[in-house]
Amino acid sequence: MSAVPQPETNYQPMREKDLAEVMAIEEAIYEFPWTLGNFRDSLRAGYMCWLCREGPELLGYSVLMNAAGEVHLLNLSIAGNHQGRGHGRRMLLFLVDNARIAKAEKIILEVRPTNSGAQNLYHDFGFRKVGVRRNYYPAAHGREDATVMALEL
Ligand SMILES: CC(C)(COP(=O)(O)OP(=O)(O)OC[C@H]1O[C@@H](n2cnc3c(N)ncnc32)[C@H](O)[C@@H]1OP(=O)(O)O)[C@@H](O)C(=O)NCCC(=O)NCCS
Repeated sequence: MSAVPQPETNYQPMREKDLAEVMAIEEAIYEFPWTLGNFRDSLRAGYMCWLCREGPELLGYSVLMNAAGEVHLLNLSIAGNHQGRGHGRRMLLFLVDNARIAKAEKIILEVRPTNSGAQNLYHDFGFRKVGVRRNYYPAAHGREDATVMALEL
């Protein structure tokens, strides 16, 4: 066992001052990233925007909108060099716990049908496919449908 203290993973609210770091990850991991304006608008609209840090390092972030007991997970992202180490699973657990504490009844999200990694993660948590939104995402050639998934809390 190492005697060197390891920095702890913690969750904290996203602020405007964090957006340069957030955008660096967003633009690195998505072919069609959110814009700076999308994040700014989310913060200004009072959406729940969370960062996950390990010490000072930003590992990932999420954006959720809570409307009338239904939480919409709009963005869940882990930095490319930290993917596949359980951070996404732990962040989703944190978000689901928070939604339960807020007495939400349901969490819904959209995911690309081609994004099997994210779908596996959501499925493990009990999210199930409840629909399709046609031509929802931009794609290399035209548009791609979204799979809509929901978790009853
Ligand atoms: C999807 C994402 C949030 C998952 O976070 P992560 O930290 O990489 O994933 P974890 O290490 O916590 O893995 C949790 C589970 O997700 C699934 N998963 C994650 N990456 C996967 C991959 N490349 N292939 C298959 N399943 C994968 C597995 O079920 C995994 O469980 P397991 O380790 O027991 O097999 C992250 O990879 C990411 O940000 N990807 C790019 C952005 C994105 O697609 N966001 C979701 C948009 S809806």
